[in-house]
Amino acid sequence: VFVLGIETSCDETAVALVRDGRLLAQELATQVDVHSLFGGVVPEIASREHLRVLPALFSALMDKAGLAPRDLGVVAVARGPGLLGSLLVGLSFAKGLCLGTDARLVGVNHLHAHLLAPSLEEDIPFPALGVLASGGHTHLYRLDSATGFTLLGRTLDDAAGEAFDKSAKALNLPYPGGALIDALAREAEPDQHLLPRPYLDNDNLDFSFSGLKTAVAQHVAAHPQLRLSRMPEAGFSPEDLPPEVDRRGLAVFCASLNWAIADTLRTKAERALTRAMGRAEKGEAGQGRYASLVAAGGVAANSAVRAALSDLARKHGLPVILPRPALCTDNAAMIARAGEALARAGLFHGLDLEAVPRGRAVPWDFLPVQPA
Ligand code: KG4
Ligand code: ZN
Repeated sequence: VFVLGIETSCDETAVALVRDGRLLAQELATQVDVHSLFGGVVPEIASREHLRVLPALFSALMDKAGLAPRDLGVVAVARGPGLLGSLLVGLSFAKGLCLGTDARLVGVNHLHAHLLAPSLEEDIPFPALGVLASGGHTHLYRLDSATGFTLLGRTLDDAAGEAFDKSAKALNLPYPGGALIDALAREAEPDQHLLPRPYLDNDNLDFSFSGLKTAVAQHVAAHPQLRLSRMPEAGFSPEDLPPEVDRRGLAVFCASLNWAIADTLRTKAERALTRAMGRAEKGEAGQGRYASLVAAGGVAANSAVRAALSDLARKHGLPVILPRPALCTDNAAMIARAGEALARAGLFHGLDLEAVPRGRAVPWDFLPVQPA
């Protein structure tokens, strides 16, 4: 069965074809240059761009794969959380395809899909601890299977990627600044006392990054030589750093920010691993020991985050699954992959499938499973 994946939840328009857990073809158009002019994603522009490019991407994908719409068995679409207007573009397209063919529709939780992305290339040993850190979300999950997710903790305010992007903005680095901060960070060692690791002094598995944002703003205000005098155009690279900037100081600052965020993610992930181990040792029923650690989302492309989670997994004797950067950020391959897993479990949606905006939980509202 050919599974089409459609992703339009934020600022990437993407389609992909998956069969038997393997990626056959994909097409992706990023709007990053358009939004970078505004220092963040403008929802109205995002929806219009999705509407403009989605049909052409779909045609290109089908041509590449040598398939016609009637060859599709399942149409999987990201149904949220995301920007409502953007999601609706993907949903309408998916529903149109299902109406015009015999394909079945399945709505996919964008966050679950992120964590399944690496399984296009390697098996995830379950149960897995999933660390999902992106521009809009920072969630810790227990994955018991490709369709069995339990939310363990999440950010109470900003996402980890938002902390990177807002810090970049404070430095006048162009949006989205995470990758630039990471590139600059590689030029120095972190100063572990420069920035706070937020919200660790508690006993939960949630995150809060807004305090870090404030600390960054105060530090930059007190050290204006770290900041570019005006925001450069998109396509800026660390080589283009103007001479007025204290490059060395900026590199130390970026390395320290990388460290603060990576170590915060590591600490909460370790707490989740330790608790599951404790439950297993006491012979308690339910959520026992983990068999692997999976990272996903744009922030999982960060060098410090990858190093911190690799160290943690090694310490606990677990395999660590770190998708390559193209599978960390938004893509449709992960949507098709997650949709295929749902379809195999007999989970589909009707044409009344609804989009779920950011901030609202994605409901478990599949059609009743038909006995085989
Ligand atoms: O998963 P994603 O593509 O989109 C969302 O669903 O949000 O994540 C985008 C986020 C942005 O905040 C971006 O700055 C961040 O991922 N990001 C990084 C890196 N690459 C992307 N943050 C830190 N280091 C990186 N190397
Ligand atoms: Zn995403």
